[in-house]
Amino acid sequence: MNPKVLVVQKIETFITPNKPFRILELGVGSTTPFEYLVKKYPLVEYVGVEPIGFGPKDSLKDFRKLANVKFFNQFGEERLRAYTAGYFDVCASFSVLEHVKNLEAFLKNSIDYVKTNGRIVHFYDRGHSMRPSSFRERLHVFFGNYLPFLLPAKKFVRHLDEKKVDNLIRKYGTEIEEITYHNMPDHKQFIKNLDRNDSLSKKLAADLSSWEFLVSKYVRAMPDDIRERFFLSVCFWAKKKIT
Ligand SMILES: C[S@@+](CC[C@H](N)C(=O)[O-])C[C@H]1O[C@@H](n2cnc3c(N)ncnc32)[C@H](O)[C@@H]1O
Repeated sequence: MNPKVLVVQKIETFITPNKPFRILELGVGSTTPFEYLVKKYPLVEYVGVEPIGFGPKDSLKDFRKLANVKFFNQFGEERLRAYTAGYFDVCASFSVLEHVKNLEAFLKNSIDYVKTNGRIVHFYDRGHSMRPSSFRERLHVFFGNYLPFLLPAKKFVRHLDEKKVDNLIRKYGTEIEEITYHNMPDHKQFIKNLDRNDSLSKKLAADLSSWEFLVSKYVRAMPDDIRERFFLSVCFWAKKKIT
């Protein structure tokens, strides 16, 4: 199972049925793991932000027409004029932080838009830096890390240090509740190769992703370099404190 789906399933536990729940997702791309949740709860209001656009396939075309869904074509670090600070219950991003050039402004915005006791959930990847698939990708990460001014915002990528994200999130009045680790490279490959046409293999694949969630508190205690090697994705779970 895609760990992003598990993350959204956990966010679902924050919803009280028959009560409004407002979600802001930054950097939606061409697909969102929130789709099932938005369709399941009519009182969920979903706002998606995406700077690049939807591409020729536009797999979110029908989703965007739903009454409780709105999209904005802009960067996550820009203000959303239609909404006031503290409007949302949750702000989340998936595989976006490592592409954000102005990380501090992006994270600050994600916290500002959430109400007190609301959640900020950022899932990001370090596969680009730990397992680059081409020389070009390796080069991009090198520029992102050491010569960021050479990369335009829409092509930006870097290796993101957990401590940097941790410090920036705490700086703007949040408490980090949990950090979870996902996408162990061998698990990813194994799940890809597992025949998932029968219910047992589907369950085994889902169990493997759930296991990563469960083992996270032990992973956090490991030395940084070992943790980075074992898990290519990290998810920060923070709660906005009373300001
Ligand atoms: C790797 S894609 C991930 C897309 C999707 N969230 C997913 O999980 O498949 C990264 C996305 O982040 C968007 N992005 C990059 N920089 C951004 C920024 N500063 N603010 C908001 N989105 C950004 C890109 O346009 C792209 O759609």
